[in-house]
Amino acid sequence: MSYAHTEVAQIAAISSNRCIGKNNELPWHISADLQHFKQMTTTQNDGDIQGIVIMGRKTFESMGSKPLPKRVSFIISTQMDYAEQKGLVGKNNAHVVHNLDDALTQAASLAHGAHLETIWVIGGERVFNDALMYTDRIELTHVDTDITDGEAFYPELPERFKVVVESELMHDEKSDLSFKFTTYRVDTAK
Ligand SMILES: NC(=O)c1ccc[n+]([C@@H]2O[C@H](COP(=O)([O-])OP(=O)(O)OC[C@H]3O[C@@H](n4cnc5c(N)ncnc54)[C@H](OP(=O)(O)O)[C@@H]3O)[C@@H](O)[C@H]2O)c1
Repeated sequence: MSYAHTEVAQIAAISSNRCIGKNNELPWHISADLQHFKQMTTTQNDGDIQGIVIMGRKTFESMGSKPLPKRVSFIISTQMDYAEQKGLVGKNNAHVVHNLDDALTQAASLAHGAHLETIWVIGGERVFNDALMYTDRIELTHVDTDITDGEAFYPELPERFKVVVESELMHDEKSDLSFKFTTYRVDTAK
């Protein structure tokens, strides 16, 4: 668990059938959830780096191929020229890496320097799945809907993850969807 003494956390919004994406977009628009994501992944300190996120190439593109404000993004792609393609060479808020290990190593090293306790894995499906073995905490937004024809799914959680905090059920008026925030942590008593 954890990576080079840095907490690894995942954050995702998932449907009842564990869908996270459709047509390379989120399957819903829930502004309170976007706010929650921003709040979780951005600390309130005064440093230049207020958060560190790791994502797959398609997730980066689903956000308009723009690094998230105030945070440093590690984007995983097998394409060796991806940084050139996207004009990211020399940027200090976005780094293209070619495998998950490099993403975690570089993110953990940056976190140490920036005095950040946590690195955030923000998707998509393969990145969530492959990073589970290093993950200490998972923040899931459970959205009370079934998505048909979804393309990306959140993995089933291994038994070692237990619910530690659960919000009340909330309702988003615009989308007419109900949702709740749940925090899972690895049960260290086992
Ligand atoms: N609901 C949520 O919370 C949430 C969160 C994130 C994303 N999403 C949604 O999920 C969808 C995108 O997710 P996705 O699962 O389709 O794609 P993804 O994981 O974001 O991106 C997949 C790509 O990332 C690269 N990649 C991933 N793991 C790699 C590894 N270990 N080594 C090398 N390259 C790796 C590859 O890029 P190359 O093909 O360039 O090699 C791969 O094709 C979108 O619909 C997005 O909106 C939802």
